[in-house]
Amino acid sequence: MEILIKNARVVDSSQDFIGDVYINSGIIYEIGKKLEKDCEVIDGEGYILAPSFIDLHSHFREPGYTYKEDILSGSKAASRGGYTAVNLMANTKPVCSRMETINKVLKKAREINLVDIHQCASITENLWGESIDHLYELTNEVKFISDDGKGVASSRVMLDAMVVAREKNLTIISHAENEQLVDLDTRLAENMMTWRDIALSKFTGCKLHLAHVSTKEAMQDIIEGKKQGVRVTCEVTPHHLALTEETVYRVNPPIRSPEDVAFLIEAIKDGFVDTISTDHAPHSIEDKINGAPGISGLETAFPVCFTKLVGEGHITLNKLSELMSKNPAKIMGLNKGEIKIGYEGDLVILDTKTKYNIDTSEFLSKGGNTPFEGKTVTGKVICTIKAGNVVYKDKIFR
Ligand code: NCD
Ligand code: ZN
Repeated sequence: MEILIKNARVVDSSQDFIGDVYINSGIIYEIGKKLEKDCEVIDGEGYILAPSFIDLHSHFREPGYTYKEDILSGSKAASRGGYTAVNLMANTKPVCSRMETINKVLKKAREINLVDIHQCASITENLWGESIDHLYELTNEVKFISDDGKGVASSRVMLDAMVVAREKNLTIISHAENEQLVDLDTRLAENMMTWRDIALSKFTGCKLHLAHVSTKEAMQDIIEGKKQGVRVTCEVTPHHLALTEETVYRVNPPIRSPEDVAFLIEAIKDGFVDTISTDHAPHSIEDKINGAPGISGLETAFPVCFTKLVGEGHITLNKLSELMSKNPAKIMGLNKGEIKIGYEGDLVILDTKTKYNIDTSEFLSKGGNTPFEGKTVTGKVICTIKAGNVVYKDKIFR
């Protein structure tokens, strides 16, 4: 498969120039100006050509909750959002604890073949917080373990899991929420468990990734951990950057105060935030009415982040590309996320000029649960290319 994108503004974490990119056999083969090839050509004039996005934190709900999302609808939503690789959480039914369940997900993902799917295994069997025996049976396909949706309550269980994770070169993704405190104070619950998991990572030497960091204090502890050389990385979500608590919307962790948001943005600018991850958490209308926490985030991540972070002048598009493409690819060990010869030909074409309103009726996700419905944004994914194949094209794209 060959494709040539011409005359676009080529932007990744370290470049910004007008030019052409040629993909051959799924790989970025040539980068330059005035390239001529006898293959499919896309005129990128007036648009940005960037590496596709990589999401370290998505819920596709299969098996078990496919009325909320399934691997096909989740993959389509990812493509529409400009993503070509996602890391799926394990809170399915059955829970992704054993290779039997994980392999079924991976097989289906390969058949659909719209995005590269990595499936996390749970840290504790069935998210029950107790046994970690299944970890010994995990094969090399698994790179991350997480009880996301729940915190691992027992410090000893988490420590033991970290020892195994270190041996098997797995990264722990921590959903930092102390369930004994959460009904009293959600920030205390997040802060205590963030501190604990960093302390355990320091003790065990295990790679730790903090999911959806939302408070100033949690971020301060991560910064301190990083300064001390602890093997810790972290993500923030678009909604924790773009919203403050006056927006009432149920999500875990909750939307925080303007002071928290300002601190998270400063931490991004200072280089302490590794990635922006969506925490794509689709739910049915009924489940949402009944209080299910979460936001369907894949299809709004880029416009929300572009409008808030780049549009308001906090960071450059290069920096946003680092957070949404380069760094998550690095953490997942993928040969993607930058526009360099030899990298996988996974790219997005973006319109960063036209203002439009977010419209959930256009979502390809089954979940329309978002506080961004109707919001005016700039930054639209108009084409997603995976390994040189166009996997998504917006209707306005010529
Ligand atoms: C997530 C879900 O619905 O699975 N919900 C949420 O509010 N974030 C779980 C999670 O990531 O915590
Ligand atoms: Zn979580």
